[in-house]
Amino acid sequence: MNNKILVTYASRAGSTAEIAEAIGKTLRENGAHVDVLSIKNVKDLSPYRAVIVGSPIRGSKWLPEAMQFVQAHRSELARKPFATFTVSITLAMSKGDQYRQAVIGWTAPVRTLVKPLSEGLFPGLLDFTKLPLTFDTLKLRLVVALGIFPKDDRRDWNAVRAWAESLRPLLVG
Ligand SMILES: Cc1cc2nc3c(=O)[nH]c(=O)nc-3n(C[C@H](O)[C@H](O)[C@H](O)COP(=O)(O)O)c2cc1C
Repeated sequence: MNNKILVTYASRAGSTAEIAEAIGKTLRENGAHVDVLSIKNVKDLSPYRAVIVGSPIRGSKWLPEAMQFVQAHRSELARKPFATFTVSITLAMSKGDQYRQAVIGWTAPVRTLVKPLSEGLFPGLLDFTKLPLTFDTLKLRLVVALGIFPKDDRRDWNAVRAWAESLRPLLVG
């Protein structure tokens, strides 16, 4: 069987894509063959022995394209080692750890489709230079101005690397 691992992601402003790249890099450093691809560029899962899917949270949900990906490939994903990761600004708040249960609740629809072996939960980033000016992003600017969400990059690269290292035995066996 092919020994490649797929790390695939949905991302609107790039922060989840960069976390996916970091996961791929760690897995490669641990000896795995890895493709890191946007969900829109993945048609066929047959070349992969294991799949990791990641999405940011928007409006307390995974992005629709990430949910559609898991839905479309659910039977194949259920037959392979499968893990997910979720990126959220809530986890970047001070005392963000208190909200882990809420974030776990937001990802329940993914688990209903396919149960992952492991779920990574990571703080994200609100980069307004990469987001359109909409009612939703204006509201987020207000939350940042009020000091509730941080304005700087709080991604925890050590946590991302540690999670990726923990996956290696689960995904490759
Ligand atoms: C319109 C919008 C809605 C969001 N809704 C949530 C939310 O409900 N909960 C949350 O924790 N983060 C929320 N976020 C924050 C994103 O999850 C975070 O910025 C993430 O890093 C974005 O990933 P991306 O850069 O890959 O698009 C939202 C961000 C945007 C732009």
